[in-house]
Amino acid sequence: MPWLEWHNRNDDLKATAKTPYRLLQPIQSLSHGDEDAPNMLIQGDNLEALKALLPYYAGQVKCIFIDPPYNTKSAFEHYDDNLEHAQWLSMMYPRMVLLRELLSEDGSIWITLDDNEAHYFKVMCDEVFGRKNFLGNIVWNHSVQSKGYSGKLSVHHNHVLGYRKSDTFELLDLPRTDEHNVNYSNPDNDPRGPWRSGDVRNSLVRRNLMYDIKAPGGNIIKHPPKGWRFSKETYEREREEGKIIFSADETRIIRKIYLADQDGRVPETLWFAQDVGTTREANKEVRAFVEGDFFETPKPERLIERILRISSKPGDLILDSFIGSGTTGAVAHKMGRRWIGVEVGEHAKDLAQPRLRAVVDGEQGGISEAVGWQGGGGFRFYQLGPKVFDDQGRINPDIKFEHLAAHIWFAETGTARSTRAMKSPLLGVHNGTAYYLLYNGILGDKTLAGGNMLTMKVLAGLPKHDGPMVIYGEGTNMTNDRLRSLGIKFKKTPNDIRAR
Ligand SMILES: C[S@@+](CC[C@H](N)C(=O)[O-])C[C@H]1O[C@@H](n2cnc3c(N)ncnc32)[C@H](O)[C@@H]1O
Repeated sequence: MPWLEWHNRNDDLKATAKTPYRLLQPIQSLSHGDEDAPNMLIQGDNLEALKALLPYYAGQVKCIFIDPPYNTKSAFEHYDDNLEHAQWLSMMYPRMVLLRELLSEDGSIWITLDDNEAHYFKVMCDEVFGRKNFLGNIVWNHSVQSKGYSGKLSVHHNHVLGYRKSDTFELLDLPRTDEHNVNYSNPDNDPRGPWRSGDVRNSLVRRNLMYDIKAPGGNIIKHPPKGWRFSKETYEREREEGKIIFSADETRIIRKIYLADQDGRVPETLWFAQDVGTTREANKEVRAFVEGDFFETPKPERLIERILRISSKPGDLILDSFIGSGTTGAVAHKMGRRWIGVEVGEHAKDLAQPRLRAVVDGEQGGISEAVGWQGGGGFRFYQLGPKVFDDQGRINPDIKFEHLAAHIWFAETGTARSTRAMKSPLLGVHNGTAYYLLYNGILGDKTLAGGNMLTMKVLAGLPKHDGPMVIYGEGTNMTNDRLRSLGIKFKKTPNDIRAR
């Protein structure tokens, strides 16, 4: 498969492995609403923030939307959008690798860009996500006003590239409007209601569907070059039911597609300003939360609403790692999704936070009226905390049980666990093996000779498992033979804990 080459590519391929794991530290004073709400606004560089999320959320995110700097060569007060093309690709590559790890198997990712980088980025994403997982390139009509003469075309669209993690992703329908029904009519008073004529040709060569059809007047209708779309039996049944009819001159068959059978419409690649908003509309939405200058390319709530509508359901987890003014969090919140947003700039605190606080309190801008938003829920604000492992790979001694447990679980299984689930020395069972952690007095005894050491007495007190066990502890007085006979693989904290 061809791939994109850029300066530093080889280093960038290793960048995620070199990024340290950090703890996320909650900031109480900037959090708002329901304390148990699962939503997170994280201030920090998203490379480290995404890595910090892995042990807790790998494989759990249903939909990612990102709106990274477009590399437009403009310097904003809040961030620099002026990287060399290779630097921009270097910035994006490791982040895309981490984002892919965070996606659930049936998840999808949507990225807005303009012509500065979109086409190079498409090739990079083909490599990260696989070409077969490309869902399409949405052309979003982001501005209506002409840009004036520059010798080049006046640009009125942005790209939204869509990728799924695997073919288990299901693209959801959009609602039909009268405009989508204009091709349906009922010229023959079919009792099943309005219909339109559907394509009868197969797009693949199908020899078993290559049969000729005899019209009532005797004319023979040849099959299309690649065959029909339906078997002879289906043809005969639908002919009988009046769902397939003949054209007046009997040279063609007409297969009826009924309006009554259409639930919604498959999302198209052209998204118009009147349906999903413009950059100007987005600026107005953000203006309500900030005085003075802010970066000029927020996204309209209606655009994000449509992306979430076709890719997620209420309760699903949504992630935006370049959240800017907080649009994705605001829309996800109003649509009943859980969300995580990451923003490096100070506007995490002075724009996204106040906006999301207002949403929790029932803010009525953007899509609020359309979705009947009345307020509720909450979010926690986080900043990046200390490293989990030092440069020698030793575990930070201050780390709490549930965080160490999440890291061990992720390192062993590659899957994520919520810290809430980590309240017992038995972390869980994966592929038949049970994983235990004896640490920080989880068994109620903080002495070295107590709960953190594996002894026969401690073992007897652990939740039982019938099968192989991996037990992390500070030490053990049991012999290797004894451990082996009991099906236990003992690993020593911190030496045997390895970051994945
Ligand atoms: C185009 S804006 C996103 C706007 C957003 N969609 C909205 O509607 O407000 C890009 C954002 O990415 C942020 N950003 C750039 N590099 C980042 C990084 N490494 N980590 C986290 N955020 C970053 C910028 O500070 C900026 O707020």
